[in-house]
Amino acid sequence: MLEVKGLSKHFGGVVAVSEYHLTLDKKEILGLIGPNGAGKTTVFNLLSGNIKPSKGEIIFDGKEITNYSSAQTAKVGLARTFQNIKLFGELSVLENIKVGLHMRNGSSFFHTFLHTPRFTKSEKEITGKVIELAQLMGIEPILHHQASDLPYGEQRKMEIARALATNPKILMLDEPAAGMNPQETNSLMNTIKKIFEDFGITILIVEHDIKFIMNLCSRIQVLDQGRLIEEGTPQQVKNSKKVIEAYLGTPKKDKRC
Ligand SMILES: Nc1ncnc2c1ncn2[C@@H]1O[C@H](COP(=O)(O)OP(=O)(O)OP(=O)(O)O)[C@@H](O)[C@H]1O
Ligand SMILES: [Mg+2]
Repeated sequence: MLEVKGLSKHFGGVVAVSEYHLTLDKKEILGLIGPNGAGKTTVFNLLSGNIKPSKGEIIFDGKEITNYSSAQTAKVGLARTFQNIKLFGELSVLENIKVGLHMRNGSSFFHTFLHTPRFTKSEKEITGKVIELAQLMGIEPILHHQASDLPYGEQRKMEIARALATNPKILMLDEPAAGMNPQETNSLMNTIKKIFEDFGITILIVEHDIKFIMNLCSRIQVLDQGRLIEEGTPQQVKNSKKVIEAYLGTPKKDKRC
């Protein structure tokens, strides 16, 4: 389904990602972990077309998408959320999720916000779908709240609902549990399991909460200083010397995992 070969990104002299590779041939929940600055978000930005690679190749469903824009990757079925949440702050939760659905139905922002006939035609159907997604994410009671007023945890759930609304084949979540308390994190874990089972999509997760990753993922990749240093089952990664060294090896390194 997805094949990534030799993907590299340099920012001037900084090597953010070097020779990253990934093969996904079945539906799974894959974890991408590594210390701060390891290159995890850069990998997501490259896959989703938010930035262009310096080198390498991305093939999705047999088609090369290496230089696709973010709009083009969304169209072929890659959806993501952001470490720094991106939302339409002035709009309600309902309207934020609707944007994802209108994009999937081929309505542009123009149709969505100017309420053209093409927009209104599918409006009823779309509202029903928004409610369904909001129920799944447990944010139905706050559908009419302004997005910018919500705590981080709720904004993150809204972002996931919006990403799901585009009907993706692959969903990429960048630190979905950031800003959540242990109870919310636990409930998010169950929701992600449910999304995986109900929607039958592949999920890629970047997350510092190691328990969260170990519980959810069938396979984990570990990045350190832009390089893939380990890949395997949660158990294999947990026992890997290279991984332990990457996290704890030098006293200067941030020990968050
Ligand atoms: N737009 C950019 N311009 C210059 N350097 C960048 C840019 N984006 C990322 N970097 C650098 O690339 C490296 C990898 O950053 P990235 O954000 O991918 O790490 P990360 O693994 O997501 O870290 P964190 O866990 O803190 O989110 C870092 O050294 C970072 O400073
Ligand atoms: Mg990051």
